[in-house]
Amino acid sequence: MIFRTMLLASAMAVGVLGVSGSASAADNKEVQMLHWWTSGGEAAALNVLKQYLAKEGYAWKDVPVAGGGGEAAMTTLKAMVAGGNPPTASQILGYFALDYAEAGKLADVSALAEKEGWAKVIPTALQRFTTTDGKWDAIPINIHSVNWIWVNKALMEKIGGKEPKNFDEFVALLDKAKAAGAIPLALGGQPWQEATMFDSVVMSTGGPAFYKKAFIDLDESALKSETMKKSFDNLAKLRGYVDPNYAGRDWNLATAMVIKGDALLQVMGDWAKGEFKTANKEPGKDYLCYRFPGTDGTVIYNTDMFALFDVPADRKAAQLALADATMSPEVQSAFNVIKGSVPARTDVPDTAFDMCGKKGIADVKAANAKGTFVGSLAQNYAQPPAIGTGAYHDVVTKFFHGEIKNSDGAVTELVKAINAAK
Ligand code: BGC
Repeated sequence: MIFRTMLLASAMAVGVLGVSGSASAADNKEVQMLHWWTSGGEAAALNVLKQYLAKEGYAWKDVPVAGGGGEAAMTTLKAMVAGGNPPTASQILGYFALDYAEAGKLADVSALAEKEGWAKVIPTALQRFTTTDGKWDAIPINIHSVNWIWVNKALMEKIGGKEPKNFDEFVALLDKAKAAGAIPLALGGQPWQEATMFDSVVMSTGGPAFYKKAFIDLDESALKSETMKKSFDNLAKLRGYVDPNYAGRDWNLATAMVIKGDALLQVMGDWAKGEFKTANKEPGKDYLCYRFPGTDGTVIYNTDMFALFDVPADRKAAQLALADATMSPEVQSAFNVIKGSVPARTDVPDTAFDMCGKKGIADVKAANAKGTFVGSLAQNYAQPPAIGTGAYHDVVTKFFHGEIKNSDGAVTELVKAINAAK
């Protein structure tokens, strides 16, 4: 039912947009971008790109589809592409891009990539998603990571808390907040948010080698292991710290609870930092950014890429202008300072970034060198969407909301769902 409603909404969006493939002078200068950047911080970051292109004489046409994690956006994109009306570009995550590449729906901007030497400055892990058979068809604007916690500093001081270094200390900190009458954990009970949090819980419980075995290799013995059961048991512990109204809440409203001091902390990707920034809050003064307890030294990443669609000839110049702007060191710095993420280009200096941004940049570099830079399963950087957004989100959310009763049941259901989705 929900799926049907979403399809209908997508079809309507396509109808309203009515993008034609025919050439006209106006079309030539327009960049049409589908994305799910509808929160305050996200919109402010996107403005950097819009303004840069405006200066170059390009008009911007937004196709915003609200819904963190991009599930609804991907449904709209599918309808647009199927209808022969692809946007100039779409925000996209990992394996979603590979599907469009395989279906031959993407453009080839290799000439520009070559001229500007992108291959030398983009981490090889990301190039797996931005290129197909050596051809560039998507561009990365950033590197986000999901294993962070965002803490209200005043509340932390009030309860006498300190940075938790492992999962047990994390639970002890949440207990302290509870005892002081604060909401310990700000959460939006939506499948993608719960699954994104679970990525960190698994990393904290099992470490990077376990995470890779289970989520990258899909090793069945790891998926069914005592460590995975313990990860679900740890997730279950977190249920006790959310407020009664958490179900269905948007992620940025959960961030706002921390900003206002109604809740102690949020477990969320570093797009949360964009919300603190647009609320004029400063790290170290108003809030604290820590790696999810027990995951220091690892980065569970998701990158926002723009998939470049194979648009008619009259729209290609605008597409190249977008690619050029996105990959410019200037935009990569200014955009990510606001967005909360770190530049996808490894040659962008950290000078303009705040302390959390500087830590993010250093962490990516160190994790890349150590082999602990791993894709987020919840964000479709570890497996194709049928497994990430599909099987994984579904099992984690059913467990978190009590539909799957215990961790034995959870690992059984996880293996079953993953095998069915393969
Ligand atoms: C994207 C971020 C975005 C977040 C919430 C993630 O999937 O990578 O750019 O801010 O969803 O909307």
